[in-house]
Amino acid sequence: MEAAKYSAIEHTRDGRKIEIRALRPEDRDDVRAAVGRTSDQSLYRRFFGAKREFSEKEVAFFMNVDFINHVALVAAVEEDGRSEIVAGARYIVERPRTAEVAFVVVDQYQGQGIGAALLRHLAIIARDAGLKEFIAEVLPENISMLKVFAKSGLKSSTKREPGVVHVALQIS
Ligand SMILES: CC(C)(COP(=O)(O)OP(=O)(O)OC[C@H]1O[C@@H](n2cnc3c(N)ncnc32)[C@H](O)[C@@H]1OP(=O)(O)O)[C@@H](O)C(=O)NCCC(=O)NCCS
Repeated sequence: MEAAKYSAIEHTRDGRKIEIRALRPEDRDDVRAAVGRTSDQSLYRRFFGAKREFSEKEVAFFMNVDFINHVALVAAVEEDGRSEIVAGARYIVERPRTAEVAFVVVDQYQGQGIGAALLRHLAIIARDAGLKEFIAEVLPENISMLKVFAKSGLKSSTKREPGVVHVALQIS
């Protein structure tokens, strides 16, 4: 499947249907709404600093995804008959065959397996594109992110430094 048209159906642990799909340019307002529903702590863990407001340039960077060197997926659920974005994940190719991954799930939907599902689908796309490794920088206290990586079934290695854990995952 072409990465820019990627779509798959998954279920949360409590049985809700979620669509994992490619980010689209028209998702801009829904992405903004999702950020609005995400706690300061989660945004801190994602961006390694206090972050809630984004400049036009930053928004453009997050929305202008080429689906080659920069791939972004969202997770959408039905809420009151409307599809709402509740999570996002992306990878950015950093060097040949290696991409950095990052995730954020709206707090209300954390612990439902959505992070794990996003990683699985990013890995499918990356493998298809010939990548061999995902890397991530994780705050040491971010147990849930480290757990998602550890339980992914992918061969992983971690390097702990003060204030950051470097994770490398073999994807093919
Ligand atoms: C990290 C994050 C992406 C994980 O996504 P998620 O959908 O919540 O994760 P999942 O439900 O797939 O799995 C989370 C796992 O961590 C566990 N977990 C969560 N909080 C935990 C805690 N405080 N201590 C121990 N385990 C914890 C969950 O029980 C689950 O493990 P399990 O599969 O054994 O039950 C999400 O929590 C998030 O958006 N956090 C804020 C942003 C962030 O940290 N981004 C990462 C930057 S690289």
